[in-house]
Order: sequence, then structure tokens, then C-alpha cells
Amino acid sequence: MDGNGRWAEGRGLDRLSGHAAGAEAVLKAIEASSELGIEYLSLYAFSLDNFKRPKREIFGIFGIIADFLEEKLIPLVKAKNYRLRFIGDLQSLPPDLLGSVSKANVAGLNNSGMTIIIALGYSGRAEIAAAFNYILERRVLDSDMSPVTYEEIERSLSTAMLPDPDAVVRYGGYQRLSDFLPLQTVYSELFFLDKLWPDFEKRDLYEISGKFERIRRNYGNIN
Ligand code: FPP
Repeated sequence: MDGNGRWAEGRGLDRLSGHAAGAEAVLKAIEASSELGIEYLSLYAFSLDNFKRPKREIFGIFGIIADFLEEKLIPLVKAKNYRLRFIGDLQSLPPDLLGSVSKANVAGLNNSGMTIIIALGYSGRAEIAAAFNYILERRVLDSDMSPVTYEEIERSLSTAMLPDPDAVVRYGGYQRLSDFLPLQTVYSELFFLDKLWPDFEKRDLYEISGKFERIRRNYGNIN
């Protein structure tokens, strides 16, 4: 969801207005995904590297996300039967945002509809290191010298039990993944849009879905 800052700056507004507009765009993206029958929607809301930004912007974004969870997402999850998962270093978040995250977690607990995954304080590299340390600890405790398999690594990631993304969509004109699900996206179809995230329109996702349907996915095989 890139381009919030540039969207605001282009209008002579404070960058935080761009993030607020970005949160409105998230609602449209959820609605479009639901209409398209997408079962898992992951939103990269805040990376571990985003902590390098000025404090005012960081806490501004956290405030916008907390309000979004409390006022928009929790009621929506209850009304539409959505499931919610949070991934990332949640301990890096301030207590008030963590409180909203916990409430949101509970709201979708017994639901069975579309799963919305929100990455907060997320870093793919940190996730891989944590998975390796978890595996290492178990190996040492069990005096187990057997080779580590990819399946074991997969089970130790924060996305355990979730399918790998079929597609990744990045707004904002850059063609990179910025530490987003590096292992899980090895076979994902990548879509890069030049438009800025707050300019999201439902038809973007409809068009991408159409393109995706026409792609033959071989996973290294033929046909
Ligand atoms: C990247 O744009 C965006 C972010 C770091 C924050 C994303 C946050 C939201 C969309 C707010 C709402 C999220 C949820 C889940 C409610 P940027 O600031 O890097 O933009 P720039 O490249 O134009 O500076």
C-alpha cells in the first residue's frame, strides 16, 4: 500500500492525511476482495523498517490504524464474518495499538469467511531468523541432528497454516517487495501499479483478478 505520502504531498497536505486516505482505500480493497471471492487478503500496513521514520509519522500511522481497527474493521469483521490475523513483531507496537489489535483478534475468532491478514511491525528477514531460532532451540532440546526441511521452516513462520499468496499487488510505482513475505511469495504473481495507494479503485483489483485468471501457473513443471 505505497504512495500515501506522495499522494498527500501532491495535494499540499500533511503526510498523515495520505495515510488516513490510505485507510479509506483499505476499506474499498476489502470490499472488492470479498466481492471477488478472495479467501485471504494480506495487507502490509507497517514494516519493521518503517520504524526508521520520524516519530510523529510513526505514531500518526499507529493512531490511524488503531482508529481504523476500532471504528471500521471490528464492526465489519462482525457483520461480514471475516477472520483476522496479525503478523509481525507485535511487541514492537505501543500498548494502545496493541490493545486494539487484541480486540480485533477476538472479534474474528469464531468466524469462517474471508481471512484478512494485517502485517504490523513486519519483516520477512526477521521472521526467517525467528523461525530458524525456534527450530534450533527445539533441535538442541531434543538433541536432534536431523536436517531441517522446508516444511519445518514453513510451519515455523508467522504464516503457518496460511496458504502462500497467489498474487502480490504493489501500488506507488516501485517494483520491489520491501521485505514482504520473502519465502511465501516465491511463486506469487507480481502486479505493480503506478498509481498511489489512496487512489485505489475496486476496478484495479477486478482487472488484476482477470489477468491472474489468464496466467498459467506451472510451478516449474510444464502445462
Ligand atoms: C507507505 O506509503 C504506507 C505506509 C508505510 C503506511 C500504510 C498505512 C496505511 C495504508 C494506513 C492504514 C492501514 C490499515 C491496515 C488500516 P509511504 O508513506 O511510503 O508513501 P510514499 O512512498 O509516497 O512516501
